Amino acid sequence: MSDEIQSVRGFHDIFGEELVKFRRITLTVREILRLHNFEEIILPVVEYAELFQRSIGEITDIVQKEMFTFQDKKGRWLALRPEGTAGAVRAYIQHRMYADRPYRKLFYEGPMFRYERPQAGRYRQFHQIGAEIFGVGDPEADFEIIEIVYKILKKLNIDVVIEINSLGCLKCRPAYKEDLVKFLNKVEENLCNVCKERKDKNPLRVLDCKVETCREIFKSSPKMLDYLCEECKGHFEKLQNLLNSSEIPYRVNTSLVRGLDYYSRTVFEAVSDDFNTTIIAGGRYDYLVEQLGGSPTPATGFAVGVERTALLLSDVAEYVERYIVIPFGNVKEYAIRVANILRRKGHPVEFSYRKGGLRKQLEYADKMGFRYAVIIGEDEMHEGKVTLKDMREGVQVTKNIEEL
Ligand code: HAM
Repeated sequence: MSDEIQSVRGFHDIFGEELVKFRRITLTVREILRLHNFEEIILPVVEYAELFQRSIGEITDIVQKEMFTFQDKKGRWLALRPEGTAGAVRAYIQHRMYADRPYRKLFYEGPMFRYERPQAGRYRQFHQIGAEIFGVGDPEADFEIIEIVYKILKKLNIDVVIEINSLGCLKCRPAYKEDLVKFLNKVEENLCNVCKERKDKNPLRVLDCKVETCREIFKSSPKMLDYLCEECKGHFEKLQNLLNSSEIPYRVNTSLVRGLDYYSRTVFEAVSDDFNTTIIAGGRYDYLVEQLGGSPTPATGFAVGVERTALLLSDVAEYVERYIVIPFGNVKEYAIRVANILRRKGHPVEFSYRKGGLRKQLEYADKMGFRYAVIIGEDEMHEGKVTLKDMREGVQVTKNIEEL
């Protein structure tokens, strides 16, 4: 025997139980997005690396350490997409999607790639389903996004908290940054090395540090919410009013900054306290379209991490009433016809390829969780009948095929 080839570290096969959860999540999100009238776009997996450098930001973990980049045969730098927003913005601009309408609501689904250290719920290829609203600056759009996230959590019966914060705008953030840097300079000695390095290049990212001693220090750092200009403050208040009046629970987390640089004003994450992980995240990014060459267009959106959400989904043993058709003797064509009669009525039906006697066949049907075994021998065929065995109840009846 030759050596077995394994999948690449961090790249996983999804099947069985996990796949049932996976589909449950994506179908649920799709259904909610359909009701909110979002339109699907299938985006490429490969983009120019520059797209992500210019959007996610040079001084972020994703761009500095986690991107799968490579050169094509002409020496151009390409990247496997680490997320969907940048590609959606690129497509929005490239196809002039703003031309025929004042705003546009898009969603996408597919694999994303980040070179992270794999662990439970963290992969190098993972899946997101995300949505973006382009062209609406009003807090009502942020509300719609968070409302959708809440509906997803409710529908999937997942108990996590939605945390929100505001990162202000280009008008009010500089003053905050300045004070934050002053603060960080004062406590520099006690910061971890990564924070020391980031403090000057991208001070806001410092607040996202997971090191316990740093987190303790940041408790007394200046907070963006105290620096918001009137417009940003009004926006954040309006959003909270909308959430309150819809009874959507949330908590304000003043140190929520997100791992990508393009955000302005609203940011949010659905966080599991028990598992110490974020499963859904997003926010507003009013400057990104312009930054990538479009005209100024406010935008907001979210993305569900499918694998991570699957971790929190309780068992979804869906009881599907499946049939297995078991032929004995020279009855195969008749049995195939019977299987198709049942399929036409919408039942999932397996035509048994297993060899062996009735006892073996029924054991197999039981083990594989089929609800009904349709047993067909030559007698049944000549009479236009089948023997139907209810595997759960253990009862057996003979039926004409018209009665199936
Ligand atoms: P993000 O927070 O980087 O945001 O990713 C969103 C979700 O993707 C995370 O909450 C997590 O569930 C999942 N995720 C991220 N990395 C991994 C990984 N290595 N393995 C498994 N799951 C992972 C974004 O990507 C933004 N584009 C969201 C957004 C849309 N903002 C506005 N619009």
